[in-house]
Order: sequence, then C-alpha cells, then structure tokens
Amino acid sequence: LQNEQRQVKFVTTNGVHIGKANLGDSLLDVVVNNDLPLDGFGACEGTLACCTCHVVLSPDHFARVDKVNPACEEEMDLLDLAPALSDESRLGCQIKLDKSDPFVLEVTVPEVTRDARTLD
Ligand code: FES
Repeated sequence: LQNEQRQVKFVTTNGVHIGKANLGDSLLDVVVNNDLPLDGFGACEGTLACCTCHVVLSPDHFARVDKVNPACEEEMDLLDLAPALSDESRLGCQIKLDKSDPFVLEVTVPEVTRDARTLD
C-alpha cells in the first residue's frame, strides 16, 4: 500500500470483505469500486436518503471522524431509522478515508439494513 492508499475490511455476518481505498474515498466508494458483495448497501448512492449504508466504526475511528466530520442533522435522522444502531454508528457514504486513518481499517456492517425511502 502506498501513502495515499488504505485497506478497508468490512466485517459482515457472512464474512469479511476487503477493499482498497484512496484517501478521500467514502466507505460507499470503497464498496462500489471494489465490487464488494454487500447486498443493498448504499441504495441511494450516497444522497443521504436511505440509511442502507449504516456501518459501525471502531471507537477510535468514530472519534477521529467525529472531530473532522460529525454527523449532520440529516445523517442523524437517518441513523435513527437504522436497525442495530450503536454509539459508533455512522452512514458509510458520509465517512471519508483520511490521512490520519491507519493503513488497515475495519468497519462492521450490521446484518439488517433498512431503506428509509420505503418507510411511510
Ligand atoms: Fe443512502 Fe448513504 S447511501 S444514506
């Protein structure tokens, strides 16, 4: 891996899927660019409308991101609709790989997703 690159491990109930990332990529970009088999992930293509890109970060990662890029109100509202919400939950389309991140990052993808657009 070069300086500008990172590796992201997406931990799912069906195993771990690994993608290569460049700094500035969102976690959704990593899933799409590496063609990772995360069913239904990122259904609204990063337009902050669905919450299918819900991920749980490590406490360290969450704290780093929270400093430079805390969740906006829209993201908070969507997270409220996400199943299996945790204190370190974020939307993957809003999380960008940063130079302060270690070369290998691990994020957890909850088993159940929900598409906020299909709710009444
Ligand atoms: Fe829909 Fe992130 S991809 S909110």
